[in-house]
Amino acid sequence: MADTQTTHAPATPPVIRREDYQPPLWLVDHIRLEFDLDAHATRVKARLSVTRAGRHDRPLRLDGDGLVPLSVAVDGKALSPADWRLDDDVLVIALPGNAHEVETEVQIAPATNTQLMGLYASGGLLCTQCEPEGFRRITFFPDRPDVLSRYDVTMRADKATYPVLLANGDPVEQGELPDGRHWARWVDPYPKPSYLFAMVAGDLACNADSFTTMSGRAVRLGIWVREEDLPRTSHAMTALKNSMAWDERVYGREYDLDVFNIVAVSDFNFGAMENKGLNIFNSRYVLADPETATDPDYDAIESVVAHEYFHNWSGDRVTCRDWFQLSLKEGFTVYRDQCFSADMGSAAVKRIEDVRTLRAAQFQEDAGPLAHPVRPESYMEISNFYTATVYNKGAELIRMIALLLGPERFRQGTDLYFERHDGQAVTCEDFVKAMEDGGGIDLGQFRLWYSQAGTPRLTVRQRYDPASGSLSITLRQTVPPTPGQPEKAPMAIPVKFALFDPATGEHGGEELVVLTRDQLEMRREGFAQAPVLSLNRGFAAPVIVEAEQSAQDLAFLAARDDDPFSRYEAMQQLMINGLLAHISGAPLESDVIIDSIRRTITDPTLDRSFVAEAVRLPSEAYLGDQMQVVDPDAIHAARERLMTGIGEALESEWRALHAECARNGFSLSADARAARKLRGVALSYLVASGAPDGAALAFGQFDRADNMTERQAALAILVNRETPERDQALAAFYRRYAGNALVVDKWFQTQALAFHPDTVEIVQALAGHADFTLANPNRARALYSAFAANQWAFNRADGKGYRMVADAIIALDKLNPQTAARLVPPLGRWRRFDGARGAMMRAELERIAATPGLSRDVLEQATKSLA
Ligand code: PHE
Ligand code: ZN
Repeated sequence: MADTQTTHAPATPPVIRREDYQPPLWLVDHIRLEFDLDAHATRVKARLSVTRAGRHDRPLRLDGDGLVPLSVAVDGKALSPADWRLDDDVLVIALPGNAHEVETEVQIAPATNTQLMGLYASGGLLCTQCEPEGFRRITFFPDRPDVLSRYDVTMRADKATYPVLLANGDPVEQGELPDGRHWARWVDPYPKPSYLFAMVAGDLACNADSFTTMSGRAVRLGIWVREEDLPRTSHAMTALKNSMAWDERVYGREYDLDVFNIVAVSDFNFGAMENKGLNIFNSRYVLADPETATDPDYDAIESVVAHEYFHNWSGDRVTCRDWFQLSLKEGFTVYRDQCFSADMGSAAVKRIEDVRTLRAAQFQEDAGPLAHPVRPESYMEISNFYTATVYNKGAELIRMIALLLGPERFRQGTDLYFERHDGQAVTCEDFVKAMEDGGGIDLGQFRLWYSQAGTPRLTVRQRYDPASGSLSITLRQTVPPTPGQPEKAPMAIPVKFALFDPATGEHGGEELVVLTRDQLEMRREGFAQAPVLSLNRGFAAPVIVEAEQSAQDLAFLAARDDDPFSRYEAMQQLMINGLLAHISGAPLESDVIIDSIRRTITDPTLDRSFVAEAVRLPSEAYLGDQMQVVDPDAIHAARERLMTGIGEALESEWRALHAECARNGFSLSADARAARKLRGVALSYLVASGAPDGAALAFGQFDRADNMTERQAALAILVNRETPERDQALAAFYRRYAGNALVVDKWFQTQALAFHPDTVEIVQALAGHADFTLANPNRARALYSAFAANQWAFNRADGKGYRMVADAIIALDKLNPQTAARLVPPLGRWRRFDGARGAMMRAELERIAATPGLSRDVLEQATKSLA
């Protein structure tokens, strides 16, 4: 037989299918856990009260991952090794009766857990991450979301090393033990799936506060961090209290335990985790002060704190039946956090940002080999499905339902959903049904949004007849084929539009139509002149619109549209059209663009935060998405050229804005934040103009800033330039913040995102920096995810960028497969590039896929990307 060391492709892991779902055969009503904590050898004793579900004679099967039982007992009697077996990693026990107490003991080693799933060590703490399938790395258990149990958890640990012991639910008892150890017991009265289990042990300081719920109960709030980080927790605390009040006001949802804790850890695979009563956060979504965090960091903290808090109802009280239903909790919760942030700040700018994220991450995913429906049909590794499609497109689906229902009926729908399914593990279908029953609507065809992948394209044709003064509009939809779904049925697409009279600048009212077939024709009468169409207002549907509007119409909308998203969109489309025409050989027509920008930056009625969004050029990646074959060099050259043109033509305006937006003294007010944002945009145009004092101005802003927003903005501009100020600023930044991991991440990331011809070599060198490590996900992402998002650098024609990322994936896979797998999709975009680039990307994917001992995570992403 072939020896296992040969280079043949690894066996394909089994595929799990949604249609194969079977309800659990055994339930666990109650689990008692005892931890004897130690970084190198933790003992875990579990006592499960199991009951047979229905009539069957199948054995109990408990999931495990890398666990070996030290002992197994049933109803207090130790089993001999003949009475149980390990089937792969699953512990199989034949049980005679319908209810038993099953006890197991295992030993695990948090200190060597580099996957950061299960119980692991991070900066001296011990903490857990269980979603989606990490609990099986802690103890034997039916590790699936439809098995809900009540948890009773006792932790014992050395008191000096681990003075704080936290778990889900409420603390009930604690005490001292011999040898400097102590213990604590926590009980969570709410039945929950294992993925929501959490515990933390460590030397943590607490920002303690309280919140009184709408029914008058006092909840103790705690944000637990390293002592020195305490001064950076106030923003997260404010966000938490605002979230609690918002969920009461907007959804009628009250918090349900006596305590709510958040713990910040420095090593974390994702953003944060909604464990019942004990949210565990990547520290980047907790810690902020003006010196170390940018305004977007503040916003991200507010939204992630809200997101995890909102999961208490949309995720914890009502959870998922199986992982195919992930969007049930994620899509809904993202929608909820988006609306919360919109209410806390500028709704218009929030919508623009959310659409930008959707287009950058989800539209690309939907257009490539990893496209999947919001409710996927199959997976090899569920960790690969924490995607922009499940999260962000999922949120757009809820937003469309809310639009179709209107606020009152939407609330009736969510009330019914929470009431009907409280304490249950349910499906996306259950959610849609509750919205139908509670809101009084038929969502029959709408369900296709859950099952069909691919971004629908909406093409628009308008014909104006001057004789009759009527306009006919034809909307056509096509849904592109995606892997496994060659043919698509027409979707239900809500379209919001308005028709502007170019003479008055007014429109006769916004309309909402729902396109349900391939094509829809509409006629509107009474126009003395051809009206200007403002379409997909508010980005009501997650579709690509092809409207072929004239530059004149776009300029009109950019100046007049009363829907802020559409106004922004018109401006962006104007820039995109000019750039694409130039890329395909036409001279760069920048006059209309420059006029529109001038009008926007001098319009005193506009919010500066909106202005900054509107006048910023579309990203290189988004321009690439508009092309048949992405030409990264041509895109970069054209965009730089337009940037310079806009910079030169409006130099004095940018100069004035840059000066005007400066502030004495830091403030987090909306006005101050908007000024900082616009100041950054002004500086970028000013430097692009080639003004001789550009680099000095940028360095001045960098050097004198009293906040990270302005300092980092100036640094991000300087890294693109070959000037002495570049190296000076980078060195000063590093010196100032060495030792602050979150800021050092910014130092790596800013360089990886630079428009610099040597970015590949710079990133290569940074990988050898003393502060670089693949073991910390934030650090690995700061360098490699940022680099892979840098279209011009990553896709450099010599293919060195591809090779470097593939090398990183192979190396990281040995430590942390989840994080490694997230670096694969950029290589999967090979069909979007020319043959030479495509072949090099494919070769790297093949090299990855052929690596012996590859994880299921990376194997799934690499093989699917090649298909
Ligand atoms: N459920 C988390 C959230 O969206 C994300 C997460 C998934 C975190 C898997 C860790 C692991 O809020
Ligand atoms: Zn979530």
